[in-house]
Amino acid sequence: MKTVILFYSRTRKTAMVAKTLAKEVGADLVEVTDLTDRTGPLNYFKSALDAVRENKTNIKPEKIDLSPYGLIYIGGPTWASKPAPAIITLIDQCKLQGKDVIPFTTVGRNTAGQATFATMGNRAARQVINRMREKIEARGGRLVNSFIIGTGGLSELEIEEEVKNAVQELDLPIYGF
Ligand SMILES: Cc1cc2nc3c(=O)[nH]c(=O)nc-3n(C[C@H](O)[C@H](O)[C@H](O)COP(=O)(O)O)c2cc1C
Repeated sequence: MKTVILFYSRTRKTAMVAKTLAKEVGADLVEVTDLTDRTGPLNYFKSALDAVRENKTNIKPEKIDLSPYGLIYIGGPTWASKPAPAIITLIDQCKLQGKDVIPFTTVGRNTAGQATFATMGNRAARQVINRMREKIEARGGRLVNSFIIGTGGLSELEIEEEVKNAVQELDLPIYGF
């Protein structure tokens, strides 16, 4: 069985994480697009509100065939301590019975002096992972690991390094098939 990474990214930070991860663990990559306009300061606040309320949104692709995959990574940004609406919508559309799942989130704030990828990282990001866990388990998925990447103030190269550290530290390739 193969591995796939499903991700949503508004400002390309999670995209950078997902691309690096795909190389490191040998996975296919599927980007999910949110059809709601999330650009500009007004939409920023609306987006935070949508996240807090867990409002659904329209995403593309509408359906993803997960049958070739045994392990599924699902990742997106932390918005106001919640998963972005595209991620909530995505999980609700996925058939996860019999699948191993690894949720991850990226977050603006790094917690000084702590490994950003550890589950002990940023509180908002931990809440996101917990919410994703609840939703994944409700869909029949088995959560085998999770991680958080702090992106605030980091260059693309530094984000890549964070991902490589997380892959090594959490031994993520052992979950592959
Ligand atoms: C609407 C909105 C709400 C956000 N809320 C938080 C937050 O509560 N805490 C935080 O540390 N970062 C927050 N961020 C920052 C993002 O989590 C962070 O920049 C993330 O890495 C962006 O990922 P992306 O480039 O894949 O969209 C927020 C960003 C947006 C757009």
